[in-house]
Amino acid sequence: MFGSKTLALQKRAQEIIPLGVNSNFRYWGDGITPYVEKAKGAYLWDVDGRKYIDYRMAFGPIILGHSYDDVDQKVIEEIQKGILFAMTGELEVAVVEMIIEMAPAVEMVRLACSGTEATMHAIRVARAYTGRDLILKFEGNYHGFHDHTLWSTYAPVEAYGNRRSPIPVPGSSGIPKSMREFIITLPFNDFEGFERVMRSYGEQIAAVISEPCQGNCAAINPQDGFLALIRKKTEEYGCVFILDEVKTGFRIANGGAQEYYNIKPDLATYAKALGNGYPIAAFGGKKEIMSIIGHGVAQGGTYTNNKPGVAGAYATLSLLKSKPILKTIEHRGQRLMDGLRDIFEDNGFPVAMTGYPAMFSFSLGMDAVTCQRDWALSDHVMYLNLVEKAIERGIMPDHDPREPWFLSYSHSDADVDETLNVYAEIVKEVKM
Ligand SMILES: Cc1ncc(COP(=O)(O)O)c(C=O)c1O
Repeated sequence: MFGSKTLALQKRAQEIIPLGVNSNFRYWGDGITPYVEKAKGAYLWDVDGRKYIDYRMAFGPIILGHSYDDVDQKVIEEIQKGILFAMTGELEVAVVEMIIEMAPAVEMVRLACSGTEATMHAIRVARAYTGRDLILKFEGNYHGFHDHTLWSTYAPVEAYGNRRSPIPVPGSSGIPKSMREFIITLPFNDFEGFERVMRSYGEQIAAVISEPCQGNCAAINPQDGFLALIRKKTEEYGCVFILDEVKTGFRIANGGAQEYYNIKPDLATYAKALGNGYPIAAFGGKKEIMSIIGHGVAQGGTYTNNKPGVAGAYATLSLLKSKPILKTIEHRGQRLMDGLRDIFEDNGFPVAMTGYPAMFSFSLGMDAVTCQRDWALSDHVMYLNLVEKAIERGIMPDHDPREPWFLSYSHSDADVDETLNVYAEIVKEVKM
């Protein structure tokens, strides 16, 4: 699938870096893991000089396009004045003001550097605010690498037990067994199960944390009323509702899923599109909850207002506010989603399209998916077969069928057309 320089670099890297990559998800297998040289706009070049239309966009952060000039210029201008002070400056205050202006439920914010940190801090604040320890999360949702919620994320669903009494499965060796005491897991979109668990445990639950859609499991959408049910029940039992908008924030709407679904969580977490790839994250929400930070509640970090991240966010949010960027992405993404659906259906393959035009996915061999347990039954072999053929023709979605396709403002109509042409060809090859 890749050229000789890629293979040689993987070999060299594997001698000194576990799996030859600096994050497990980047390893696709020996001989089939990409190594990148550069990226610009919607395109990526591997170390063999092969060019791809990129639909990974670094797992979502790149909302405007790779090395986007307006953002990079602002970052360069700012870093020439120093990159880290461990003191507060005006630019970060302006970034927080913009987040609050754009996100309907957010009244106060703390910045962080990664989505993992943002959800970890939000969970601490929720526990401190409620004086409770239990966290409820949904199977197939991913909230970063910390031990609190790395449960029932990617395990084979057979390990999850019966859906009426799900078994939380740790996402890694090394997570203390005792952490199991603090987590409840449930299938996404399980209205009845959620109400039942809230009746039994609601008064002990500190936080219900959820992605708005399953951004780490084929972007499975919430069914009508599911997020509203979480809102209603968390309010009823005095739990904090944390909406993890690390993937949806500043991507599916300027105000993220809060605007899209008209839902007001207590806390929300952000990273990714917030900085078009520069290292920045945020968590925020109700003033009443956020203002306990610093009053017996610890939160901080040396790099939390790093200048590249803050300047990247300042430039990205300014652009999102000033032009219909997300509408343009939506239009092109919708064409791509519709086109792919037509190709599969015209060739007789059942397909469930999920997600939003700016981050979507599809599950083959089925008409609908509502949770990870459904998705696990879809045709992953065919999905992977198509991905590998697409990559050979210069189209790069992620190798993992759980990972959505991400579009940016730099993806053109011509890129969409080219992608559809390639899929129309390779679907026919797979059919033969
Ligand atoms: C919904 C969600 N939350 C949290 C995270 C963790 O973010 P990071 O990789 O920046 O630590 C991710 C990463 O993909 C995510 O998709």
